[in-house]
Amino acid sequence: MTGLINLLICCLPMPNLTDTKVFVSYAHADGRELAQDLVRDLAASGLEPWLDDQRLSGGAIWTKEIEQALDGADVVLALLSRASYVSGICRAEQLRALRRAKCVIALMAQSGTDVPLHLEAKQYLNFTGATGYKQQFEKLLESIGVRDGVFLKSEYRYTYVTAPPLPVNFVERPLELAALRNALIADGDVRHVALTALHGMGGIGKTILAQALCADEVTQQAFPDGLIWVSIGKESTESLVTRMREVGKGLKDDLSLYDTAQGSINQYRTALRSKAALIVLDDVWDARDVEPFRADSPRSRLLFTTRDTSIASVVGAREFTANLLTKTSRAASSRSGPAGESLIFLHRRTNLSGNVDGFRSRFP
Ligand SMILES: Nc1ncnc2c1ncn2[C@@H]1O[C@H](COP(=O)(O)OP(=O)(O)OP(=O)(O)O)[C@@H](O)[C@H]1O
Ligand SMILES: [Mg+2]
Repeated sequence: MTGLINLLICCLPMPNLTDTKVFVSYAHADGRELAQDLVRDLAASGLEPWLDDQRLSGGAIWTKEIEQALDGADVVLALLSRASYVSGICRAEQLRALRRAKCVIALMAQSGTDVPLHLEAKQYLNFTGATGYKQQFEKLLESIGVRDGVFLKSEYRYTYVTAPPLPVNFVERPLELAALRNALIADGDVRHVALTALHGMGGIGKTILAQALCADEVTQQAFPDGLIWVSIGKESTESLVTRMREVGKGLKDDLSLYDTAQGSINQYRTALRSKAALIVLDDVWDARDVEPFRADSPRSRLLFTTRDTSIASVVGAREFTANLLTKTSRAASSRSGPAGESLIFLHRRTNLSGNVDGFRSRFP
C-alpha cells in the first residue's frame, strides 16, 4: 500500500516552473553572492528571478521597484544571514510578502544565524555550503514547484500600532515620509532617530509626520513587533512606570514585571532586545526623558520629535532636511504653521545601552 502511495506521488505532474516570478530577498553584506548565483540558475531553469541590484553595490533603501517586484512575485526567497536578520529592509520584504499571501521560502545562507520568528520553519534548505549547492538547488526548484513556503503565524498578520489616528484633513507628504522611513529602516548603523524642527519652531508638522510613519504599511512591515507611541510633553505628570507599562503592553510583555521605575526600564530593555519594534517619543523637551528608552536592540529603532535642536545634538545627531508645511500643504491644513525646513536628526551608534554623554565621544 505504501509503495502504491509513493508511486502515485512520484507520478503527480510537477507544476510548470517556466515564467514563475521569484523575488530574491537578501542582505548586501553577506548574501549577495548566493543571491546572484540563485538568480543566474533560476533564470537558466526558465524562471523569472528578480533582485534589487542597487543593493549589490551597497546598503539597501526601500524603493517603488522593490514594492512592485514583490507584489508581482509568485514566490519570495528569503536568504537568512546575520545581516538580513538585522536589516529593516529585508524584514519589510519578508513581512510584506507573507502578509500578501506570497509563497515565502526561507533559505539558510549562513550557518549560526538567528532566524526571525516570523520565518521559523521545521527545516530550511541549506545553502551554507555544508551540503552541495547543486543538490540544494534541485530541492529549491521542487519547493518552488509545490509552493512549499512558510506559514504566516496569526501574531504576525498585523503590526500592533498605538499611535493616534491621522487627522481627517491629513495631507500626505510622500517624499518626507519616504525620507524619514528610509532613515529608520535603510541598512546601516543607525539605531536611534530623532526628528526635530529648526529653531525650535512649533506646529511645523513633526508629530503628524511621525503619526503618518506609524500608519505607513512598509514601516509596519519593517517593525512587526509593534509601533509604540509615547506622548512626553513639557510638563507631564505621568510617572515613568506608567509610561513604561504602556510600552510594555504594546510589546506584549509581562506587565507584572513593570513595578518600579528601574524594574520597568530593565524589563523593557530585556524585552526589546529580541524584538523588531519602533518606539516613538513625541514632543520631548528634556534629554532625560529619552534616556530610559535607550536599549540594546539591533532590530528596533527609537524616534523622537522635539522643538529643541540641542536635545538632538546632545545625543549625537546626524541630520538631513525635510520640507514640512510647504505653501500648498499649509493651505490645505486646518491650522497654519510657520513654513520652513525641519531637520531630522539621526543618532548613530552601534551600542544603545550607554548614556548620552558616553555616546558623543564615539563620533568625531
Ligand atoms: N500633513 C498634515 N496634514 C494636515 N494637517 C497637518 C499636517 N501636518 C501638520 N498639520 C496641522 O498642523 C498642526 C501642527 O502639526 P504638528 O502637531 O505635527 O506640529 P509639531 O511640529 O509637532 O508641533 P509642536 O512642536 O508644537 O509639537 C496639526 O495639528 C495639524 O492641524
Ligand atoms: Mg508635536
